Amino acid sequence: MAVLFGGRSAEHEISLLSARFVVEALDRDRYEPVLVGIDKEGRWLLQEEALLLGAARDPRLARLNAAMPEVTLATRPGAEGAAMLTPLSGSSTPADSAGSAGGAQASGIDVVFPVLHGPLGEDGSVQGLLELTGVPYVGSGVLGSAVGMDKDVMKRLLREAELPVLPHFTLRRSTWERDRAGWIDRVAALAEGGTPSRSAPIFVKPANLGSSVGIRRVTAPFEIEEAIEHAFEFDLKVVCEQGVPGAREIECAVLGDDEPIASIPGEIVIDHADGFYSYAAKYIDERGASIKIPADLDPAEVSTVQNLSLRVFRTLEASGLARVDFLMGEDRRLHVNEINTLPGFTAISMYPKLWEASGIPPRELVQRLIEIALD
Ligand code: DAL
Ligand code: MG
Repeated sequence: MAVLFGGRSAEHEISLLSARFVVEALDRDRYEPVLVGIDKEGRWLLQEEALLLGAARDPRLARLNAAMPEVTLATRPGAEGAAMLTPLSGSSTPADSAGSAGGAQASGIDVVFPVLHGPLGEDGSVQGLLELTGVPYVGSGVLGSAVGMDKDVMKRLLREAELPVLPHFTLRRSTWERDRAGWIDRVAALAEGGTPSRSAPIFVKPANLGSSVGIRRVTAPFEIEEAIEHAFEFDLKVVCEQGVPGAREIECAVLGDDEPIASIPGEIVIDHADGFYSYAAKYIDERGASIKIPADLDPAEVSTVQNLSLRVFRTLEASGLARVDFLMGEDRRLHVNEINTLPGFTAISMYPKLWEASGIPPRELVQRLIEIALD
């Protein structure tokens, strides 16, 4: 099994932590992992396991990019469902390359697990490449990955399916540049969706990213312009969305293909100055957020979350796995926030924890994901 990790997106470091989890959970009696790191320049590099496990612990990760030989992914003509990983510039150790012509070395791959988050990994691009090679892979296909990454298209499809999404609109740079003052007023008007005593927060997000990179929570009109400029540093499209005063963050894991199942829901309890589940609250400040499984919901609410999660999964053409994130207001109404088609597998990530609490421990989870891919 080839494990793809790293990648060119701003979630590169998170992917290393996720990959480490997947590799550690793999049943070695059945699968031999071939580790392929993608560095921030997009080079595919064969990676030694010890280095991945060590590098994932190193927050600066400098050693990782330095030590990987380059590989290319190619199909072997006539070999059904198989692909080869061929190092371009030597193999992973000098001993391996001795005796083989030009140092090249090939390994047959039966299945790929793209443990990649964000654009150029979770958005259908790598999935398209894998389709071309004919090798089965874990997770959603090209279409599901692409719509799941783009919060603008995702929310249009959810709205069309009459799933509960919050009011929002999308700005492109040219639209924004033409009428900044007008757009600032329209964004500010989103705050009117609050309660009688409190206005709603507003979220300004790059359309295509994850882990809350580039997202600002805005509570005063003077913050809007800078928040939009900040989001445009990451993407050509920016989504401005109404928030929910005092929102709770509820998450649910989905697993399967034609007949997916939903986990028990969990909850993120945030205690951070950012006021939402920001990148810092997720990964930097140890006490920024804590996880509560199961979420504090009554049985009817649990069913609602699970049913909505399955509807979101199908509406967005996801398959294999996904985590669906919700916001719950003080009136206990549920709003779909988004889907994540390659959710995090880090030590603090909800996806594996929700399955563990639902009776599927990590080894079995990874096993099932591979079986779904090979099915
Ligand atoms: N985008 C991060 C990895 C998540 O959804 O968990
Ligand atoms: Mg996301």
